[in-house]
Amino acid sequence: MASTRTPRKFFAPLAIGAPAPMRERPARLERMIHFIPPHVEKLRSRAGEIARQVDVVLGNLEDAIPADAKEAARRGFIEMAAAHDYGATGLWTRINCLNSPWALDDILEIVPAVGSKLDVIMLPKVEGPWDIHYLDQLLAQLEAKAGIGRPIMIHAILETPEGVNNIEDIAAASPRMHGMSLGPADLAASRGMKTTRVGGGHPAYGVLADPGAEGAPRAFFQQDLWHYTVGRMVDACAAYGLDAFYGPFGDFSDPEACEAQFRNAFLQGCAGAWSLHPSQIAIAKRVFSPDPDEVAFAKKILDAMPDGTGAVLIEGKMQDDATWKQAKVIVDRARLVAAKDPELAARYGL
Ligand code: GLV
Ligand code: MG
Repeated sequence: MASTRTPRKFFAPLAIGAPAPMRERPARLERMIHFIPPHVEKLRSRAGEIARQVDVVLGNLEDAIPADAKEAARRGFIEMAAAHDYGATGLWTRINCLNSPWALDDILEIVPAVGSKLDVIMLPKVEGPWDIHYLDQLLAQLEAKAGIGRPIMIHAILETPEGVNNIEDIAAASPRMHGMSLGPADLAASRGMKTTRVGGGHPAYGVLADPGAEGAPRAFFQQDLWHYTVGRMVDACAAYGLDAFYGPFGDFSDPEACEAQFRNAFLQGCAGAWSLHPSQIAIAKRVFSPDPDEVAFAKKILDAMPDGTGAVLIEGKMQDDATWKQAKVIVDRARLVAAKDPELAARYGL
């Protein structure tokens, strides 16, 4: 017995009158997903100004919002969504998790009020495709009822061991899937990892070099605690045409470590990361925009192999059909950045 919908039904609306599911996700630049706590009037009122500096503005309703401010945060998000024109900047919300007392009202109140401006709902603590199916069906019903013309996408946070185990089924669950973010804090807790940090490395997690000469100190190389999970997430997302994101980096006093963590994620294939503090916006912008020297070299490869086949030598380095594809990843990304950022467009020569 088939356990998934047939291919034809997979792309049919889940409610009469709901918009048709998207076959392709819109290509958007999402280097940083900037978190705003919408119950704080001062921060909420600046959302329009912040939207001009970031790629995605997210109103956070889940963790970090006190229980007694949940309803104020929901109301604040609706107000902030309605009050500003977000233009090409993405507007997202992170709702509370599905087993919480707030999730249903988050969805029931936000979608009819501002659903046509909302690009993505970030769903925390996703454990399997059933969580996506539930939200998928409910969103279709609400979109139909409110007359919303384009589907709201779903972004899952990967932050439980069960979610990691079911990662491919989550990625495959719906054409609404936008992508996934690593949630290192909840994931560390639920896995029983022995760290109190929000993302980043740990001084004790590393590899000790072999003993050398008698008495010589042995080098210790710190390793990336998140390498395995980011790798799994990138493969699952890429296989299903979704984007992977590194999530939060909690130590605002260590911008260098934040940059290193973001850069590992970028090199491994991630499209962006969360910015929880204004100082992390510039870090994400720097890291998730390709390096102009790398773009220049990638352009040389594309120019040297106009039809993408064959083999050439550039600066002593072998190029062939595969490196042409690597170069195309970099140049496509640079074009996406250049379309939004005139300064980088000039540096890329695009
Ligand atoms: C994010 O939600 C995390 O738990 O790290
Ligand atoms: Mg979390």
